[in-house]
Amino acid sequence: MTGVPLERPQDASAQALPQATTPLARAAGSVPTGLRAHAVDSVDATLELLGRGDYVADRALATAVFLAMRLARPLFVEGEPGTGKTEIAKVLALALGAELIRLQCYEGLDIHDAAYEWNYARQMLEIRLGEAHPGVAADSARAGERRESIARELFSERFLIARPLLRALQPHAVAPVLLIDELDRADEPFEAFLLEVLSDFQITIPEWTTVKAQQAPLVVITSNRTREIHDAVKRRCIYHWVGYPDAAREFDILRRKAPECSAELSRQVVAFVQAMREIDLYKLPGVSETIEWAHALIALDAVSLEPLAVENTLGVLLKYQDDIARMQGSEVARLLERVRLEATRT
Ligand SMILES: Nc1ncnc2c1ncn2[C@@H]1O[C@H](COP(=O)(O)OP(=O)(O)O)[C@@H](O)[C@H]1O
Ligand SMILES: [Mg+2]
Repeated sequence: MTGVPLERPQDASAQALPQATTPLARAAGSVPTGLRAHAVDSVDATLELLGRGDYVADRALATAVFLAMRLARPLFVEGEPGTGKTEIAKVLALALGAELIRLQCYEGLDIHDAAYEWNYARQMLEIRLGEAHPGVAADSARAGERRESIARELFSERFLIARPLLRALQPHAVAPVLLIDELDRADEPFEAFLLEVLSDFQITIPEWTTVKAQQAPLVVITSNRTREIHDAVKRRCIYHWVGYPDAAREFDILRRKAPECSAELSRQVVAFVQAMREIDLYKLPGVSETIEWAHALIALDAVSLEPLAVENTLGVLLKYQDDIARMQGSEVARLLERVRLEATRT
């Protein structure tokens, strides 16, 4: 059974979308404030909101987040792993005081895990209890009535198990943040199912009713782009590509996420990683690897980048032996020299 009552339209007309919530009206910026869940009124306020959660966003990302909130549209963030996509949703939920509802995608994910499931065990029990009702069995007219009433009851909220997508549409004091993480891991047919949720913030449960959110959840979809996501999904979203940050932003991130690492060592770490990303490696280090590397160097009592410490900790930055082998020796020395030269220039 679900804890929170679902909004349940009474008839077919109640299920129809009010005009102003059509995608066209939303695109025109005429979303009724009722559907707009979070009152953040500018790009600057959005930057500040993200900053409160120690998220260092550039203006383009803050603009995309702001528009997602203002136009009540899902935000689709795509980019390399470890570039801070999932973190956006976590930080937004925290900063907005909203519940984070997370749907982690994987191969084989289906509607039962993602949206809702009928509680078959409880339904069976209900049928058994109904059949065993004293006196009913003897009276065939009453038995028939009872069977019908049980059949009606079986597909009601009492027997429904809400999974993340449905939970995100249920009433909340503050509209939740719905994170649909790594959508590229799910199978393509699952995307078709998402369309109704993304464009109308509703789910049609054929045996029961259409459940529609009173307030749009803030939807954040992430993809590591291991495959292309269908245009139909992307079209309903505000799209943003999250690239690797430039040196200044990565430095800012590192100072917030690894404050125990000195400014000087942080600068060296960032310069080294930025230079490494120019090399044609199989898998480049993300921001999460930069942060981990700083933690690792501190754990080894490093005060500055030394060749031996760098070589011995390459496994924190790189996860493929070919990449590590390529870096060892002269490449590490070359990058360290570059870091040293850059330091003397600034
Ligand atoms: N712009 C950023 N500001 C603050 N932290 C960041 C930023 N980008 C990445 N991170 C940090 O990097 C780590 C990985 O981020 P994550 O969101 O899991 O990456 P992704 O989902 O893109 O693979 C997290 O610890 C996060 O805090
Ligand atoms: Mg992620």
